[in-house]
Amino acid sequence: MSTIYDIAKLAGVSPATVSRALNQKTQVKAETRKRILEIAKELNYSPNYLARSLKNRQTHTISLVISDVTNPFFTTLARGVEDTASRQGFNTILCNTDEDPTKEREYLDLLLRRRVDGLIVSSCGQGETLSELLAKEVPVILVDRRIEDLGWDFVVGDSEAGAYQLTKHLIEIHGCRNIAMITGPDTISTSKERIAGFKRALQEAGIPIKPEWIAVGYFKEEFGYKIASQFFSQKNNLPQAIFAGNNFIAIGVVRAARERGIKIPEDLALVAFDDLEAASLFCPFLTVAKQPAYTMGSLATQFLLERISGGEKVREKREVILKPEIIIRHSCGCEGK
Ligand code: RIB
Repeated sequence: MSTIYDIAKLAGVSPATVSRALNQKTQVKAETRKRILEIAKELNYSPNYLARSLKNRQTHTISLVISDVTNPFFTTLARGVEDTASRQGFNTILCNTDEDPTKEREYLDLLLRRRVDGLIVSSCGQGETLSELLAKEVPVILVDRRIEDLGWDFVVGDSEAGAYQLTKHLIEIHGCRNIAMITGPDTISTSKERIAGFKRALQEAGIPIKPEWIAVGYFKEEFGYKIASQFFSQKNNLPQAIFAGNNFIAIGVVRAARERGIKIPEDLALVAFDDLEAASLFCPFLTVAKQPAYTMGSLATQFLLERISGGEKVREKREVILKPEIIIRHSCGCEGK
């Protein structure tokens, strides 16, 4: 699909001049506009894209689509998006999909009808919805969760490295070998990558991977509670440690352990992805891999606004993977902070 940059290059003018010419703005000489329109025609410049690139059609509104508005990870990410967008005069519409691909599709349909100028999406789907609905019309930046082959910019956390470091800490510092993992859907990149990091640390230590100790389901407290309860019911086969795929799963594990008088970390070590900042301020307990959620949201928004404004710097696809911070506290067995 040709873009205004391709037209600009062939016409020997800036993308902004092409945009003005396509917008019928007066600041473009007649012969320049004529040349630009001829090149646009030769390149079969997409009418939909043409329609969308008309600067004066901007609504100065973007949308952030996330899967769990109650999770502090996403609220911090949303803060980064909204702060960055509002500083540049854009409004932000927040959509919560509850990890439901059908709800995600309904929101994407609605957002297209509302003609938002661009979207930042932490998708709970596999990209079929996104690629079908959005490929030609509005710029999309993937945040937190990547989807292969869509060809869009993404800003994500390094889930594989964070999971590897947490698991390695349990093995090397606390001598754990029987470690279970409870995580979200393995159709979602963050969960898939956390499983990969968990397995890499086990393999490096020569610890056999037990599939029955890797539970894949939902990033929800109830799922953590349910699976941990099942683990705890196997009296002769208790894990020494549990790696929770996110903060809400960790809460479920703690609830199940408390109900059975299992002490953390004395009887069971626990580590998790994503911090619970408010809780950690009052009770610095949970050892976590903390993702730079605010930076993730802010950077994704900067990338999106650059694409919407159509500057030269948007030519290449941008892929940013941000390292999580490993915060050692008490739940793993360390004295911690
Ligand atoms: O809490 C939900 C999880 O899914 C977070 O860890 C985030 O990375 C998202 O992918």
